[in-house]
Amino acid sequence: MSCIVVVGAQWGDEAKGKMVDFLARESQMVIRFNGGNNAGHTVVVGEEKFKLHHIPVGILYPHVRCLMTDGMVIDPPGLLDEMDGLAARGISLDNLYISGSAHIILPYHKLLDTLEEKRRAGKKIGTTGRGIGPAYADKAARAGIRMADFCNPNRFLSRLEDALAVKNSLLRHLYGEPPLEAEAIIERYEPYARRLKGHMADTAPMVWEALDSGKNIVFEGAQGSLLDIDQGTYPYLTSSHPIAGGACLGTGVGPRQINRVIGVVKAYSTRVGAGAFPTELFDDTGHYIREKGHEYGTTTGRPRRCGWLDAVALAYSARINGMDRIAVSLLDVLSGLPSLKICAAYRIGGRTVNSFPADNVLLEQAQPVYEEMEGWQEEIGNAQSLDDLPVSARLYLQRVSELAGVPLCMVSVGPRRDQTLFLEEL
Ligand code: IMP
Repeated sequence: MSCIVVVGAQWGDEAKGKMVDFLARESQMVIRFNGGNNAGHTVVVGEEKFKLHHIPVGILYPHVRCLMTDGMVIDPPGLLDEMDGLAARGISLDNLYISGSAHIILPYHKLLDTLEEKRRAGKKIGTTGRGIGPAYADKAARAGIRMADFCNPNRFLSRLEDALAVKNSLLRHLYGEPPLEAEAIIERYEPYARRLKGHMADTAPMVWEALDSGKNIVFEGAQGSLLDIDQGTYPYLTSSHPIAGGACLGTGVGPRQINRVIGVVKAYSTRVGAGAFPTELFDDTGHYIREKGHEYGTTTGRPRRCGWLDAVALAYSARINGMDRIAVSLLDVLSGLPSLKICAAYRIGGRTVNSFPADNVLLEQAQPVYEEMEGWQEEIGNAQSLDDLPVSARLYLQRVSELAGVPLCMVSVGPRRDQTLFLEEL
């Protein structure tokens, strides 16, 4: 039995989908526990590319039960589009289960996400516009509508009317927008509820049963640890818990059930949206990484900000997740650069510090202190083992692992399943 949590170690988009896809093959259950369709997990199978936003990547294996648990927020039309797209490609959705406690994203969440970003003017967060923050805000305010409410017409209407009383006042008085009609939302959303109801389940007991019977379970983190609402770069982050602890909170299992935490680390750094990013590159190297790494959002298509690997942030991420192992992704993107830099410390206010500041304002002042390493020129996509990599690539990986304080278990050298190097049996 194994119970593995896979998390993004940085600001998201670390290619976690590929890691989870690999682990899913030997697992019986894959669980998404946080976020919603702000995520975009890409898996390449042969010539085919799958982009998943809500649905756990385990869905690509017919033997895997896929759970979307309590900590998630769900956009019904978005999810149904995703399900229809998979069904059209021959993927069965019989094994998809959605917790009755997951919260539903409704039209006013998306509208408020957009209006609030506009109102922030020069202080935008750069959200995905999917209504994620407002949906989690309603959850915390105990004003949300959960899957079980949504799938019961009387409860849906009653909760919706309560919610709209407040939302419409906000829309009218704060944003100068016309109010939303409950009837129109019901008319549009009830057919979605009828279609999704068959997938609703009490997911926590399913996980307990899988644990008790010694199954292999993978928790698929979405976004990245530095976007965690408590441990991330507040306020420039998402509204859920992408860290390993989120797997417990968002699913209903205790921390002692988890026996491995793998952090997926991109060989460099990227960030989408606003917020401090000490190692950001504005030069040709940043451009090179963006183009070679196809660093454009899976969900929004936005160009990602690119920079050198930040080992101060990585060591912090290792701590807040209790990482056992790191898996380095997209190493092939760095091929062709004459030299590489790793940020090993920050200069803040004339002092050199090795710790990640809790205060976002200090992080904005941080100047990276770099270690420079030799690059490698050859393409590495055909490497079959670590020994096939150029010496400078191996030294780079070794240094990343040393600075993170976590052993390396896997390296990805391309998007395909067979472009993966393993350092140990997982
Ligand atoms: P939200 O999650 O849409 O509210 O966006 C909040 C912040 O998190 C923004 O900076 C987004 O760009 C970022 N974000 C949300 N989801 C992802 C993701 O899956 N990958 C990378 N960044 C994300």
